[in-house]
Amino acid sequence: MFTDIDGLSRRAFLERLSAAGGTALLMTGMSALGFGIASAAVAPPVMSGGKGKKVIVLGTGVAGLTSAYELTNAGYDVTVLEARDRVGGRSWTAKKGTKLTELGGEAEVCDFEEGQYINPGPWRIPYFHRGYLHYAKKFGVPLELLNNDNDRSYINYEKGTGPLAGKPIRKVEVAADMRGYAAEMLAKQVKQGALDAQFTAGDKELFLDYLKSEGYLEGADLKYLGAEGRSPLVNPGAGLDPGPGVESKPYAMTDILHSNTWKVLRSISNLDQQRTMFQPVGGMHELPKGFVRNMKPIIKLQHVVEKISQTPGSITVAYTDEKGAKGSITADFCVCTIPLSVLRTIEIDASPKFKEAIGGVSYALVGKIGIQMKSRFWEDNHQIYGGHIYVDDPLISTISLPSTGWLGQKGVVLGFYPHGAAAARLSGMSLADRKAYALAAGKKVFPEYADSAEGSFSMFWHRTPFNMGGWAEWTEESRAKYYPTLLEPEGRLYLAGEHLSYLTGWQEGGIESAWQQIAKLHTRAMAA
Ligand code: ALA
Repeated sequence: MFTDIDGLSRRAFLERLSAAGGTALLMTGMSALGFGIASAAVAPPVMSGGKGKKVIVLGTGVAGLTSAYELTNAGYDVTVLEARDRVGGRSWTAKKGTKLTELGGEAEVCDFEEGQYINPGPWRIPYFHRGYLHYAKKFGVPLELLNNDNDRSYINYEKGTGPLAGKPIRKVEVAADMRGYAAEMLAKQVKQGALDAQFTAGDKELFLDYLKSEGYLEGADLKYLGAEGRSPLVNPGAGLDPGPGVESKPYAMTDILHSNTWKVLRSISNLDQQRTMFQPVGGMHELPKGFVRNMKPIIKLQHVVEKISQTPGSITVAYTDEKGAKGSITADFCVCTIPLSVLRTIEIDASPKFKEAIGGVSYALVGKIGIQMKSRFWEDNHQIYGGHIYVDDPLISTISLPSTGWLGQKGVVLGFYPHGAAAARLSGMSLADRKAYALAAGKKVFPEYADSAEGSFSMFWHRTPFNMGGWAEWTEESRAKYYPTLLEPEGRLYLAGEHLSYLTGWQEGGIESAWQQIAKLHTRAMAA
């Protein structure tokens, strides 16, 4: 991750920036280097005085809704055009009656029971996505925790070798054993003095204490013999059951290494993939609904943008409405949150440089299947509450268990969530074949999986009208070449969305990008 820049490693460069200019300069430096950390804004721009100025907002994903909400509150006369018959864009929930016909695909109607749902798009929110949390709090949209990492979940890797390959084993067992063995080996080296040169005064004994604690090492020879809570064979209870102390035996290190199961372990979680995340109660459409509850009725649904034209003093959006009638709106400014994958197909008055930039970004191939299960066997029979099951099927790498409806009768599992080539292959299958593929993979982990399956809903964003892709996938080259161009207004046209952030593929990117672009628009409007 850290490569040399002019002889300085990136880390050293950032440390110098931080020492010289504190956090603000550090954040700027990190953004300049292309790190995706910059969830820097915590609140919308403070704006007022927009009265008498007209703005058209295109799209009602979180970027469009944020723009429309804040600009309206600042006094602007805002009209929002949305191509679909609903608000929310990718911030969407598939539930009973949800319809989708993929591009060139079959018509699908979700047949889950009332109360069951899957979030086909965004589904988990890290605590540092403060823009999202700002609006959830403001609009009273209840959040619940999403368990993004579960110690009791299974890893079922078939491609390894040895006795652990191809059978579901608990993640906690692999984690305990690998930490234990690694600590034991390191402790041996430390005790033999092999690492003495690494320690300053007093460190050696403290480091040994750490290894003993970290690896549950026992006895004078500091052996790993198993860890408390690894997978008790007998749970504590009434009567004669002793409970803890009757622990399972560790796997052999060689068996774990050759099973590949260690590959899912990380001692700390990534910033944007924390162990504990949030989700809105009831589904991801709840935040868009919160915006709508708190806004004047300025959204025109089923208005498909055909053309964006500009004069020096105005901008006009031509559209086709739900009845097929043509119309247009003219305003002082336009905030366009249409994904670049779609915007590139729309006629726009813009310079060749701007158009080239719009076309210069790839979009993710990605999709999901939600499968309603008639019983929550993963909870009832396996004691797994949320988190992900890891498999090494060529098209499916995880099966995710719901973090809602705990201990209820039914639940919807996320049966696949492939990206890239795997998404391309699964999305080329019929709806029935996708489901059959997902069930066959799940059955290898849970015997109950296929028999418990009821309705399903699968979709791929690259085959979805008005999206044609999951999220923007910038490369270092395309960031350098095109990104700065798209951040600046093109005449009276301002672009916003996750694609114009370092938080691509996250709602937070859309919200913070909207904050940034409307602040620019407002500064200009006030100066005029
Ligand atoms: N933000 C997306 C996710 O959490 C990519 O899966």
